[in-house]
Amino acid sequence: MQSRYFEVYDEWQRDPQAFWKAAAEAIHWFKPPDRVFDEDQGVYGRWFIGGETNTCFNCLDRHVAAGHGSRQAFIYDSAMSGEKRTFTYDQVLSEVSAIAGTLIDLGIQKGDRVIVYMPMVPEAVFSMLACARIGAVHSVVFGGFAAQELAARLNDSEAKLVITASCGLEPGRVVAYKPLLDQAIELADVKPRHCLVLQREQLWVDLRAERGDLDFAEAIERARGRTVECVPVAATDPLYILYTSGTTGQPKGVIRDNGGHMVALHWSMENIFGVKPGEVFWTASDIGWVVGHSYIVYAPLLAGITSVIYEGKPVGTPDAGTFWRVAGEHDVKVLFTAPTAFRAIRRDDPEGELVQNYDLLSLRALFLAGERADPETLKWAEQQLKVPVIDHWWQTETGWPIAANPLGLDLMPFKHGSPTRPMPGYRLEVLDDMGHPVTPGMLGNLVIKLPLPPGCLPSFWNADQRFRETCLSEFPGYYKTADAGLIDEDGYVFVMARTDDIINCAGHRLSTGGMEEVCARHPDVAECAVIGVNDSIKGQIPCGFIVLKNNVSRDEKGISREVAELVRNEIGPVAAFKTVIVVPKLPKTRSGKILRGTMQKIADDQPWKMPATIEDAAVLETITIVLKHNGYAKEARGSSS
Ligand code: COA
Ligand code: AMP
Repeated sequence: MQSRYFEVYDEWQRDPQAFWKAAAEAIHWFKPPDRVFDEDQGVYGRWFIGGETNTCFNCLDRHVAAGHGSRQAFIYDSAMSGEKRTFTYDQVLSEVSAIAGTLIDLGIQKGDRVIVYMPMVPEAVFSMLACARIGAVHSVVFGGFAAQELAARLNDSEAKLVITASCGLEPGRVVAYKPLLDQAIELADVKPRHCLVLQREQLWVDLRAERGDLDFAEAIERARGRTVECVPVAATDPLYILYTSGTTGQPKGVIRDNGGHMVALHWSMENIFGVKPGEVFWTASDIGWVVGHSYIVYAPLLAGITSVIYEGKPVGTPDAGTFWRVAGEHDVKVLFTAPTAFRAIRRDDPEGELVQNYDLLSLRALFLAGERADPETLKWAEQQLKVPVIDHWWQTETGWPIAANPLGLDLMPFKHGSPTRPMPGYRLEVLDDMGHPVTPGMLGNLVIKLPLPPGCLPSFWNADQRFRETCLSEFPGYYKTADAGLIDEDGYVFVMARTDDIINCAGHRLSTGGMEEVCARHPDVAECAVIGVNDSIKGQIPCGFIVLKNNVSRDEKGISREVAELVRNEIGPVAAFKTVIVVPKLPKTRSGKILRGTMQKIADDQPWKMPATIEDAAVLETITIVLKHNGYAKEARGSSS
């Protein structure tokens, strides 16, 4: 049977506006849109102009009104604390209303920004929905980021309120969030008026009333039982800002609107992920990332599905069978995670012995995204789970899959290493650096013809010009994904590498440029370069090279340790920045450009050529020796250009 994908993609291509108009009928509108798309609004056009709606209403009230209030909305399962709780749609509505009432009491109004800096607890998800309910704009900050990163987000978003927890739980340690938040507020130019702090039993923190700290549970209790109606917002109003790594230390605030986001996510849940209302869907990620926003919180609820909120790791909490335990125990139909999680599970349980201990008969498919799914890991997952393993490709900016094999439209044949084909809404092309189309099978820049579909970012927060320059100006008429890849003769997409300085470490998106900015702040560092090197579990990990100032005579190892510590303290432990190598010089072109690409190839044992424009070939040879000494570049041997 041929996949219905072809028919549906054609339908979209023939009349994109009619396609999205029909998809928008699944959403409740207080006022239906006047126009499906207006190319004269916003940076490249806006979706569902004139429409008024509310995302929280569509996630909760609509299902309750339809008589589904007793259906499970969330299953919370913490492998860290052993806690398990379930919440019906009725219960979530009541919790969210109480938080929304508290937000109103604290003076938060439509359009105000609220930072959510929380671990994977249900209250984090309820807080996001409460913001949506009153038209406030949430910005979730991943717990693994340090104070400096949080301060940058406080400044850029000008948040009036921070919702946080006393701690996060990482294997072997309790991460105290409050000192990090206090430090971030000290550093920030724009200070929030209040901090709402959820006290967890693992760590009780002192609250400073004079600084606007409030106890989350007490505040919510005071607002409990009040009716807080959903505030109608324009389809084009922002639902959230999610900061993601850009090519500098300054993160980019990706904006998500209300109307287009709901339409696209609702469509994707049934058609791409193939999950139906009432079924259980589990995205093993974190709400700090876009994957968590879209597929732990919004898409499942919009579609009336039960979503699993999991606190824990794929391994070590307590073992590599934890995913199978959760999937079996909660009757998960479709699981979505990052390939790195499967590489970690495979390392700890290569024969898949732990899989046998659990009943996974309900599981229909595994979706993988966040980084390239290497064929070896993918095949291993297929063998162990005996269900289709579906690689799909997207990014924070798009909010939902650009390319996938849509389970809900019947699968197409797989090609390992390919996330299959572009989804309706995306006209994907491959252009060379001059902007010319390449022949099928040739590597180039993966770009999307404008307009981007509903759900994708309309711009960066307060930075339209940066959005134009970063994403739209290099290839006029197209959005640049900053991924390099190819489309083969059969129309299958292959995503090979980033074209900028972003690396993907354990499924986390990090900017090596941002890390270089921090390294350069160390008083003994004259120059530095950070590259991503291959790692068998995390995909890539950062590796720093520093050149010391002439007058420095201190112990090099000590300085390396300090530089690594600086990055951990300023960006966060999530950067996994542990290797810092002191070198006498950095390899550069005659025009002064650091040859990071060549260094990366040497480290990863890929074929490389001595660049014709190199300033001093001996420097690259020294780098090769240093890399070998540090356990990289085992086979490295270059050739002259
Ligand atoms: N709060 C505080 N610290 C955090 C954190 C959080 N929410 N998340 C991670 N960290 C810390 C970790 O404790 C670790 O610190 P350490 O250097 O002291 O050990 C560091 O940040 C790196 O964490 P992580 O990237 O999780 O690496 P890990 O070695 O602990 O675990 C994996 C490796 C592969 C098991 C893990 O990264 C994983 O599960 N990845 C899946 C990622 C994912 O879901 N990505 C989302 C896209 S789909
Ligand atoms: P993020 O914005 O954190 O979701 O990261 C997006 C980036 O992760 C993309 O631009 C790609 O570089 C990478 N990525 C995500 N999914 C895939 C995939 N399926 N295959 C290859 N790379 C991927």
